[in-house]
Amino acid sequence: MKSASLWAVLPSLLASSAWATFPISSVKRESNLPVVPNKFIVEVDVLSNIPNKRSFTRSLDAVYDLLKSRDVSFQVDKEYDSPDLFVGAALTVTDAIALQNSPGIKAIRPVTTFQRPKPVSVHVVSGPYDPAIPPDSESTHILTGVDKLHAKGITGKGIKIGIIDTGIDYTHPLLGGNFGPGNKVIGGYDFVGDKYDGTNTPVPDNDPLDQCAGHGTHVAGIIGANPGNQFNISGVAYDSSLSAYRVFGCTGSVTDDIIVEALLRGVKDGQDILTLSLGGPDGWTESSSSVVASRIAASGKVVTIAAGNDGASGSWYSSSPGNGVDVISVSSVDNTVVPLQKLNVNGVPHDQIIYFATFPLPTPGDLPIYATSKDTTIVDDACEPLPDSTPDLSKFVVIVRRGTCSFVTKLTNVAAKGAKTTLIYDNGNGFAGISVGTFNAALIQAADGEFASYLHILVQQFAANAPITISFPQTGGSVNFPDPKGGLISSFTSYGPSNDFYFKPALAAPGGNILSTLPTTQGSFGVESGTSMATPFVAGSAALLFSVKGKSASVGKSARTLFETTAKRVPSSHTDGDPLQTVSQQGAGLINVFDAVYATTVVEPGELVLNDTAHFKGVQTFSVKNTGNASKKYKLTHFPAGTALTVNATTQFASLGPVPLTKTSASVTLVPNTFTLRPGSSQIVAAIFSPPKGLNAATYPLYSGFIEIAAPSENLHVTYIGLAASLKDKQVVDNSDIFFGEKIPALIDSKGDVQKSPTNYTFVGTDVPTLLWRLTFGTPSFRADLVDPNIKIATTLSSRGLFGSLPFFTFPHPQKGGSFAQVKVVGTLAELNYIPRNSENPSDNGYSSFALNSPTFANGTAIPSGSYRVLIRALRVTGNPAREEDYDSWLSPVLGVYPK
Ligand SMILES: *[C@@H]1O[C@H](CO)[C@@H](O)[C@H](O)[C@H]1NC(C)=O
Ligand SMILES: *[C@@H]1O[C@H](CO)[C@@H](O)[C@H](O)[C@H]1NC(C)=O
Ligand SMILES: *[C@@H]1O[C@H](CO)[C@@H](O)[C@H](O)[C@H]1NC(C)=O
Ligand SMILES: *[C@@H]1O[C@H](CO)[C@@H](O)[C@H](O)[C@H]1NC(C)=O
Ligand SMILES: *[C@@H]1O[C@H](CO)[C@@H](O)[C@H](O)[C@H]1NC(C)=O
Ligand SMILES: *[C@@H]1O[C@H](CO)[C@@H](O)[C@H](O)[C@H]1NC(C)=O
Repeated sequence: MKSASLWAVLPSLLASSAWATFPISSVKRESNLPVVPNKFIVEVDVLSNIPNKRSFTRSLDAVYDLLKSRDVSFQVDKEYDSPDLFVGAALTVTDAIALQNSPGIKAIRPVTTFQRPKPVSVHVVSGPYDPAIPPDSESTHILTGVDKLHAKGITGKGIKIGIIDTGIDYTHPLLGGNFGPGNKVIGGYDFVGDKYDGTNTPVPDNDPLDQCAGHGTHVAGIIGANPGNQFNISGVAYDSSLSAYRVFGCTGSVTDDIIVEALLRGVKDGQDILTLSLGGPDGWTESSSSVVASRIAASGKVVTIAAGNDGASGSWYSSSPGNGVDVISVSSVDNTVVPLQKLNVNGVPHDQIIYFATFPLPTPGDLPIYATSKDTTIVDDACEPLPDSTPDLSKFVVIVRRGTCSFVTKLTNVAAKGAKTTLIYDNGNGFAGISVGTFNAALIQAADGEFASYLHILVQQFAANAPITISFPQTGGSVNFPDPKGGLISSFTSYGPSNDFYFKPALAAPGGNILSTLPTTQGSFGVESGTSMATPFVAGSAALLFSVKGKSASVGKSARTLFETTAKRVPSSHTDGDPLQTVSQQGAGLINVFDAVYATTVVEPGELVLNDTAHFKGVQTFSVKNTGNASKKYKLTHFPAGTALTVNATTQFASLGPVPLTKTSASVTLVPNTFTLRPGSSQIVAAIFSPPKGLNAATYPLYSGFIEIAAPSENLHVTYIGLAASLKDKQVVDNSDIFFGEKIPALIDSKGDVQKSPTNYTFVGTDVPTLLWRLTFGTPSFRADLVDPNIKIATTLSSRGLFGSLPFFTFPHPQKGGSFAQVKVVGTLAELNYIPRNSENPSDNGYSSFALNSPTFANGTAIPSGSYRVLIRALRVTGNPAREEDYDSWLSPVLGVYPK
């Protein structure tokens, strides 16, 4: 399922990176495809290309007329009428095939649901001296040169920024206090209303006030919060004019027909910049919202969109609409401090203990401690139910050591003995936020020297029965803990590139631990993390660029390249000798706004896409122009980034984040590599690349790096990315038993079991077949067809030793073109285009299922009673859709369609 819309997360909320088998019996026997049934966004042609155009003034009306004349029943849900960008409609239809064959229709795309992710946790700050505030609230501005632009009085005055989000609490004093012309928030629109949740009917109105969600208010503060407040914070472009386009209700998700509407409305309202801190894993540049956002960017507006917070899921998992070709997809860099909580230890003299939580654990009073083991080296503490001799733990703070089993398993075992508050101490894996489900628990440190001995004493004291207690101050317990990962790419940032090899994300901005505004109903200020927070930072930066260079389409079109070529390279760790972070997560590096605005060298393009081995573009060129007043001598240097091993060669699944890096890198010859340019003159440089050698192509090594162009006091770069493997070799359908413990794809029968022998279905109640599959890689085309049960086919994938004999086939076909069409099918059950791979998480896009609830083909026609097999085919990336051999295909057992 496409997941997540509002890209804000808790810092370091890392899931376990281990694969666990998920029982097939837990698969819900319903369709979980990432699209809204029967709803499509169609794009229509210009009137002159439509056969019956004479009587119509709008091409939309001509197309409706054609559809009616062909007996296609449809309902118009929304119309889009922006002639230079997008003319079309959101339609509910029952016959997609007839729609597809209708003249006048240029493109049909499904309506996608963007789900809201896990609840966002927010630290509401209590006052100006709350230590949760980063020591210098402007640290993010200093890091990126925004402070130097502010010092010159450049604050975005006269620039219009549209924020597509949950609305804005404009009653907040730092956001102007009021709504409408003359205020900070000059306008906008509420497309949905408070009660909209993504599945019900939106109730639009003119007031985009956000006092129930808060996300859009945090985003707005990053761009526009007024300075001169008790927290010393300000927006990046605090004199710009904001408009709030509200596309989320108080809870729930949004469909992309509404996002498209909001994008086009923003253009009509004259916004210079549109910013969207939302999206969902998608992997392709083709969704409606991606396409429309990209066209808007290509027209000279700046469009900034979050890269996504799916870093834990690994590479090739970029988000839409951030995938739009010309938009700026934004990655996040962690701030240098994390606001954490301290607890008091009473009865022995020593310092407070820092625990990894933004909020105090809501545990009242002084409680004694109970350690589930007195052995501080135990590896599997509390992984099994606790012994009968365990006392009632409800009056204790329980201490458990990290390791072996999941946090939730440990917490479930201690909760079975009554535990209400638990501290888990680290076993050397690192001090970070942990997944504790709904339990009242947090991690404390063991690894760092002072703290480890501290903990040791604590447990020793307990062993000696010393009367020590713990209490959790409910106020004043915040502490600024130096984030050991500060300045690095936030681990939650989604990895690209897109499956069609677009350079995603584009660049990074501060997004981890950001203090900004919250609705006045939610405490007014808070610290949040996510690519959601990085995205408005770049929108504000673009406003500063427009302020200095003027609001023109040419400045808008140059913005991404200027930001990319002047960005700062980000390492993969703070350890000397470790490589730079892969470009597939950092993009061109951390934005450096001052340099982007005032550089007197222009380098174009900013991105060099070398593509895969089958489509290798190893010879690249870029231009360097001296726009300053003095001659400059340039020196070019190659800085490779770590090569990301994106796929686990054993399982064929994506390597989970943090994606492993190797220092084996590409080499490049630069011609010329030093030169002098007089004012106004330019030089074309050729860069001839050789991909890294000696790497296992089955790991799909994604290499990347930078060509630095340095002059005295100037330092720019172009950024490259390529793949040392061919994407057409990458199997896309999972045919292993790793995920479910049973081989997939599979048909699931009415009892929820994998169908192993011929089975008849009555289509009464739950007696329907459900198709279950996983994609280990995105596909441009996925189809499920019914075929004759006796179809003759030969297996070609059955030799893959790892998983034994396989239910995986491709068709016998003559070795010539057009073979796909030669496979005789009875009819199509479903077809999905440009879909992302599945993830490792069963509850978030881990697998796909399609329940054939009614015995009909995709076009609604009844399936004639009889016996069939289901043929699944998924086209490999860069495969030719006409060639059967470019598909992964699977044939099901025989199913009988005998409706009662
Ligand atoms: C805000 O800035 C003023 C002046 O520099 C300083 O005195 C004050 O301590 C700062 N407040 C915070 C919360 O950083
Ligand atoms: C990479 O190559 C494929 C196959 O030719 C092509 O479809 C895709 O557009 C290319 N990507 C880019 C960004 O050029
Ligand atoms: C170059 O010189 C011109 C004329 O003296 C001046 O207006 C301009 O600001 C200078 N540009 C830079 C980048 O120094
Ligand atoms: C690949 O997956 C196998 C099986 O889950 C695992 O044992 C191995 O550690 C993984 N390899 C890498 C490089 O992650
Ligand atoms: C399915 O129903 C058909 C038609 O009634 C019958 O011929 C066939 O034997 C049935 N198959 C199974 C597996 O029950
Ligand atoms: C619907 O699809 C089926 C299977 O492809 C086909 O036989 C049938 O003619 C289609 N119906 C219409 C009205 O096009």
